[in-house]
Amino acid sequence: MEKAYQDPYKLMYHISPIKGLLNDPNGLIRYKNEYYVFHQWNRFELNHSYKEWGLFKSSDLIHWENFQSALIPDMEFDRDGVYSGSAVEYQDKMYLFYTGNVKQGNKRKSYQCLATTADGRKFLKYGSVIETPKNFTEHFRDPKVWRGLHCWWMVVGGQTLDYKGAIAIFDSKDLYEWRYRGILFDKNMDQMCECPDLFPLDDTTHVLLVCPQKRNLIDDESISSYSAYLIGNFNEESGEFLANSNKLQLLDYGFDFYAPQTFVDHLNRRIIMGWMSNMDDQEEKHFPTRENNYLHSLTIPRELFLKGNKVCQRPVEELKQLRGRYYQVDTSFPNIKLDNPQFEISIEFDKGSRNNFSIQFQDNAIKLSYVSKKGLFCLERESWSTGQRQQKFCCIGTIEKISILGESSSLEVFVNDGEYVFTSRYIPVKMTNIIAFEGLEDAEVIYYVLDAMEGI
Ligand code: FRU
Repeated sequence: MEKAYQDPYKLMYHISPIKGLLNDPNGLIRYKNEYYVFHQWNRFELNHSYKEWGLFKSSDLIHWENFQSALIPDMEFDRDGVYSGSAVEYQDKMYLFYTGNVKQGNKRKSYQCLATTADGRKFLKYGSVIETPKNFTEHFRDPKVWRGLHCWWMVVGGQTLDYKGAIAIFDSKDLYEWRYRGILFDKNMDQMCECPDLFPLDDTTHVLLVCPQKRNLIDDESISSYSAYLIGNFNEESGEFLANSNKLQLLDYGFDFYAPQTFVDHLNRRIIMGWMSNMDDQEEKHFPTRENNYLHSLTIPRELFLKGNKVCQRPVEELKQLRGRYYQVDTSFPNIKLDNPQFEISIEFDKGSRNNFSIQFQDNAIKLSYVSKKGLFCLERESWSTGQRQQKFCCIGTIEKISILGESSSLEVFVNDGEYVFTSRYIPVKMTNIIAFEGLEDAEVIYYVLDAMEGI
């Protein structure tokens, strides 16, 4: 606890580990009146050498209790890592599916495994329920399970024998015996696909989430990856997914978003959370929270919805409870001083954005800008590992609305009701708590002070 106060980069309303390295959200579920967020966790070191499932629980998606270890790598079939996976409820029990990673020399073997719990606290491992199909390499992982009309379905991400990213689909009557139905999708997914997810978002439309990965096939080390989606239709009879187009659309345009997972809650909302990182080795090596012995966090929970052929995201309604005092910003003055580093800014253009504008945070550690002639939106930050400016661009066209949720070292930006989302970590050199606006005279800008909670 003492540490948290000495840590200027500590996030207050994002799930972060108390120690060690956190990555993917796992097993997201609403179970017996509580939200469960499991996650990949190395509780010993700030690297990826060890993986277990940690657990946070909440009744309101805002206040989270850390239950720490839930599934640890203690069996033959998962001895080198309890990798990512998902959860479903059936007859009062929670069924957890994950990948058991086993290393044999420098080869790996993957098992899709099952564990159950009746109280959300004691987990019983059943063991492996699926071995890798013959047409896939052992890069085969991250089972996502859901209840279909007539059976249970599972998608698993992987790499086919010709080193292409692909998603496999299985079905089951009882969650224990699984039948391989074939390849669900294998277009444009580089050399591997991680963390797939498939779900309906309205009566006629399904969304397939994918994380294609570029792998160097010689050293199998240098890896880069991103998170994307396809819109289409999943046919429950044939088990086939027909994409409207095979072109992948980005789920996030910022620097730090990866391995998202979705679930449906009791209010029938489709909620998504992601790992708020997509850092390369150098960025991870130099990230300053290391000094406080932890790394990374998850994004806020967001609700998904469709607008035409776009998957949009908005912060879940509950997050509005964090709002305290608010001020209408007089944009003819360039700066506002934040009450504390947790803030929400809402910007609305009456007739759409017509001028160039920019918004700088914390002495320009991170900046948003817009070039109206080109409809170009840019997120720019100073890299904490190289000191260079880094940019991400996206051609948005006219902007009607922007909503920004910020903390001392994170920014989540939702443009045009979440049609475009930019998620990023940043590290201010000087924590000035000042936001500088330029060119926003024609917009209504509201600053909400967010409750500086104790931190999750
Ligand atoms: C994605 C991922 C998953 C894997 C997990 C291991 O970030 O590589 O494919 O299950 O992380 O921590």
